Amino acid sequence: MCSPEHFAVEYAINPWMDVTTPVDAELAVKQWDRLRETLVGLGHDVYLLTPGAGLPDMVFAANGAFVVDGTVYGARFKHEQRTAEAAAHRAFYESQGWRFIAPSETNEGEGDFAYLPDAHGGLILAGHGFRTELPAHAEAQEALGRPVVSLRLVDPRFYHLDVALASIDDSNVVYYPGAFSAASQRVLAQLFPDAVVADDSDALAFGLNLVSDGLNVVLNSEATRLAGKLKAAGYHPVPVELAELKKGGGSVKCCIAELRH
Ligand code: ARG
Repeated sequence: MCSPEHFAVEYAINPWMDVTTPVDAELAVKQWDRLRETLVGLGHDVYLLTPGAGLPDMVFAANGAFVVDGTVYGARFKHEQRTAEAAAHRAFYESQGWRFIAPSETNEGEGDFAYLPDAHGGLILAGHGFRTELPAHAEAQEALGRPVVSLRLVDPRFYHLDVALASIDDSNVVYYPGAFSAASQRVLAQLFPDAVVADDSDALAFGLNLVSDGLNVVLNSEATRLAGKLKAAGYHPVPVELAELKKGGGSVKCCIAELRH
């Protein structure tokens, strides 16, 4: 994770960002800190990146890389405003001794990649259409040695996979069908017949942008309907308020890069 000390909306690279909306970085830090404490309280280790001045989106740490089984596939950001973030993530992984594979193709890390370790023996889901480019899916498959299923995103409000779909345990997902092309919706229905299916209100409340340890599902507090569906499916929803960061177009999952040993 990376503190939003320098969080701001200085440019607009997704439909949620409006440069005329005032942003309270102090409040953002407070809310983000509650998220960090929530994860620690659930028993997770949290490592911190040093926020970079002039990198207002660096709080969205999920975009910096994608890790599977101890191998790191690095990010290459689409927009030049975020390009410099990739080096900070790379330095973190290299200093910790992770195997790091530098990308040649444009991809925004866990923003557009999800991993299901127990689905079909280990399956990567990958989004394209807005940020990550299709050749990066093939590059990730070669880097990580796991099959990659490409899913096409069609609604600019859901510009990353992780605002439209999340793993809720090692083999199942929750997703918002409306974010995907009709064919990709069929692929998801075929792969995940038992998925939790979210609706417009869940998606617009950033409910899909969640992290789960298989039981506890940490999600945006505005996504009350989705919390109810997850509860009915046997999970334990843990709501966290992240209203300030929503102005940047992100929520819980965007703030967290998962370290998969
Ligand atoms: N403002 C950031 C951007 O548009 C938000 C990134 C959100 N991160 C995510 N994993 N969806 O790049």
